[in-house]
Amino acid sequence: MLALISAMPEEISAVVESLTDVTTQEIGQRQFHAGVFHGRRRVVAVFSRIGKVAAAATVTQLITTYGATHVVFSGVAGAVQHGLAIGDIVVGTELIQHDLDATPIFPRYEVPLLGRTTFATDPQLRAQLSAAAEAFVRHDLGARVAAAQLRHFGIRAPRVLGGLIASGDKFFANAADLAELRQRLPAVACVEMEGAAVAQVCAEYGVRLGVVRTISDTADESAAHDFPRFAREIARHYSVGILSRFLIAL
Ligand code: ADE
Repeated sequence: MLALISAMPEEISAVVESLTDVTTQEIGQRQFHAGVFHGRRRVVAVFSRIGKVAAAATVTQLITTYGATHVVFSGVAGAVQHGLAIGDIVVGTELIQHDLDATPIFPRYEVPLLGRTTFATDPQLRAQLSAAAEAFVRHDLGARVAAAQLRHFGIRAPRVLGGLIASGDKFFANAADLAELRQRLPAVACVEMEGAAVAQVCAEYGVRLGVVRTISDTADESAAHDFPRFAREIARHYSVGILSRFLIAL
């Protein structure tokens, strides 16, 4: 079973609208929507809720109750890598919990008992998501998002790139915190609040994971207004566009 999990409720509603034969079950204050995409592919879609604990609980349910064997996680993220702009797309290569620190008992960022600091995504899902994101940017973005919206965020020719995603229970909204993160973890491309938790659970259960994140803000002072507007007006068009391309190509 393929599971689609998103950190944005708007994305899940838009995905569910593109499914048929939908049945919705509520477990632990989460609505799991099982349905069929384009008459041929059964999927289950769910809003992860926000933060690492919430996302870990949601993906565990996807695996244990719905038998998810492949999980695709979409959503938005704040840019960390210099040069990354709003509207660019990061396909996760590896994920790390930037707020995990059990020193001096374990090395910083290492997940106790697993002996690992990063979790890699599945190479095949990664390649499929990158191809879907490239096709979306090239062929669909202009039709799905109004020109005025794209202009407002300065989105012209978004890039699709692979990178390390850092997750933690913190929304980055000032330049000092962002600089400190860059100094601690220079390889990070973008930051969000769930991905690495989902990656850890998928690794523990032997489930394949793909992660795709659209940059919604630059994780500095402007994030306080860019993030909500991008989330409200643009993010779902990216997700549905990328996921449609991904599912059609399967
Ligand atoms: N998700 C989107 N933007 C973010 C930010 N600035 N910090 C943490 N998570 C985010």
